Amino acid sequence: MIKASHKKLIKLVDMLNDGALHNGNDLGEALKITRSAVWKMIQKLRQYGITVEAHGKGYALLEPLYLFDPNKIKKKLIQNNMMLHTFESLDSTNDYFKSIKNKNTNQFCFAEHQSKAKGRLGRAWYSPFGQNIYMTLLYTFEKDISKLAGLSLAVGLAVSAVLKNYEIQVKVKWPNDVFSDQKKISGNLIEVIAETHGKCHAVIGIGLNVNMKHNQHPIAKNWTSMKEILGRPINRNELTADLINHLLNYLEHFDKKGFCAFKEEWAASSYLQDQIISLIAHSETTRGKVIGIDDQGCLQLQLQDGSTKSFSSGDANILKNTML
Ligand code: BTN
Repeated sequence: MIKASHKKLIKLVDMLNDGALHNGNDLGEALKITRSAVWKMIQKLRQYGITVEAHGKGYALLEPLYLFDPNKIKKKLIQNNMMLHTFESLDSTNDYFKSIKNKNTNQFCFAEHQSKAKGRLGRAWYSPFGQNIYMTLLYTFEKDISKLAGLSLAVGLAVSAVLKNYEIQVKVKWPNDVFSDQKKISGNLIEVIAETHGKCHAVIGIGLNVNMKHNQHPIAKNWTSMKEILGRPINRNELTADLINHLLNYLEHFDKKGFCAFKEEWAASSYLQDQIISLIAHSETTRGKVIGIDDQGCLQLQLQDGSTKSFSSGDANILKNTML
């Protein structure tokens, strides 16, 4: 599903992506719209923070912009019956799926920009236009909500596998983050809608920093992006197809076997393993050494008195230069 006006925006950006100067009349003709409608679309891009140069009657993009194009993504998908919803802007791709009626088919939603994007623990998720991946998958599990423990960890591993294909070194940070070079590159937010008869719908939202750069977006957090690591812009359509293929594969496996099947993969790239951390859960702070995770994906801490405690959720921070 995609609006006709957004299709035209994708086509306009495609034409401008060669970096050359394009005449407003020619663009209008190709898109079957007036020159002033072209101007309005250019203004819209500028309002989203995209630099479009104007010389005489022509426009040029300074840097290529890879807008999500469902046709290009679909060509690279292993499962060819996937429903993709593509939007120019949404409040939040997670909220979109929470609001729709038909939740029974697995489907994906993408937005170029989110105005009220949500992170974990009530935090916001920075979502500038056209630069990163803001994607939500609505996935039906034929099992009870209580069997979904460890799902956010499996999703983090799927994202990591994609980044490794791009030769980016990554680690997974319990319970939902992916880190590269000690900086956050991706996070997921999972919201579960329980149904009767042991069935539930998981709204699996993923934010992945792709082409965002620090000089453009000086947000305080300790983050990085694929472009910052690789030094080149990434084609978001190819990346998205790769992400969908990996996710569906990991979720199928998770559905059949549970988190247990991913334990070794997690242990091999755990960011917190053997670290002394402080963990805030239910307004209580615990200090301990990370000794691993259990079959349900709970974090296991060794406490100062030698005892072990497991946590199913929380916010973990590494304490540097400290002993237990
Ligand atoms: C976190 O690390 O705190 C989770 C971030 C999740 C962000 C994604 S972006 C797509 C989806 N829509 C949202 O509003 N949030 C998730």
